Amino acid sequence: MNKNILLCVSGGIAVYKAVALVSKLSQAGANVKVIMTASARQFVNPLSFQVMSKNDVFFNTFDEKDSSVIAHIDLADWADLVLVAPATANIIGKLANGIADDMVTTTLLATTAPVWIAPAMNVHMYDHPAVKRNLAQLASDGYQFIEPSEGFLACGYIGKGRLEEPEKITAIVQEYFSETAKRLSGKIVVITAGAFYMPVDEQHIISAYANGRIGQAIAQEAKVLGATTILLDEEDANVHKLLAKLEDYKKQYPQAIFIHAANIPAIEGAPTLSIEGTVAITFGQRVIGEPMLTITSDKWIDFSDEAQINGQPFDTSNAELFAKAFWAFLIQGEEQ
Ligand SMILES: Cc1cc2nc3c(=O)[nH]c(=O)nc-3n(C[C@H](O)[C@H](O)[C@H](O)COP(=O)(O)O)c2cc1C
Repeated sequence: MNKNILLCVSGGIAVYKAVALVSKLSQAGANVKVIMTASARQFVNPLSFQVMSKNDVFFNTFDEKDSSVIAHIDLADWADLVLVAPATANIIGKLANGIADDMVTTTLLATTAPVWIAPAMNVHMYDHPAVKRNLAQLASDGYQFIEPSEGFLACGYIGKGRLEEPEKITAIVQEYFSETAKRLSGKIVVITAGAFYMPVDEQHIISAYANGRIGQAIAQEAKVLGATTILLDEEDANVHKLLAKLEDYKKQYPQAIFIHAANIPAIEGAPTLSIEGTVAITFGQRVIGEPMLTITSDKWIDFSDEAQINGQPFDTSNAELFAKAFWAFLIQGEEQ
């Protein structure tokens, strides 16, 4: 699976099953990190999770082990998927109301990864109007759920409230990632990145200013999503050669998505790239033809901290996260 899964464990009797879940996810190839609430630690010692995940276990927001990062932000950004299992009535209530008073809830508010909640509690707690209200709020906020199953509950009742079995949760996670992985399969993506130059004479060039981080990250994420990816960020970034190559690719792959993230000199006499007849995304460069989408930012995209896609602001300070958000936006648009 080779995905980063952040498991948030809150304090219910099913915490012991979360240990088995870490084991199953790790066996399936996931990298798992665990955050525990104070109540969860009443049920199982963090050492069990540490051994199963082969990673440090986090539970104190203010225990900053690594001075180069803020732990809850680092974990929030690291995750490809966040699981809250078991999710207590308390955690569900806090998340539904934006409360961030411990390591789990603070990280949950900081992440942009998908969050799946696996409630587990007494059947009457699960049926309580306040819990139902909070679950409905979370559903409308876009959270996904792994529904509890019915059966014998530790409190002695029989009903809905058991944490789903670790094998089943692991299977759902694996299926999700194989679905996600396939989302660009069969597509060809041609991406330009970095600074391109125009030769003025045999000794001089005029170059644009860029470092390629955004285009390279978009290309990397396209690969992860299963696309055949062609990245044009050569060392010899001569704009004439770029244009010639793009013309070739346009003929060879008329169905390709062209993403023009490279900066090319916008000076008199410089050749203008034609995107006519292609599905192209540009970043404010001068081009011939209509891009499907233009992404804008105050500075050149490689150096900006924010960009606008269709007027919606996206954080560009972390290129990898922007690339994930960029593809999620495009795929979502295509599926609608
Ligand atoms: C033995 C025992 C079992 C519990 N099991 C659950 C449970 O399954 N689900 C639940 O929502 N709360 C359960 N609780 C109550 C929570 O531990 C309590 O609401 C706590 O404040 C939750 O904190 P947390 O959400 O920060 O982990 C249990 C408490 C005890 C003492």
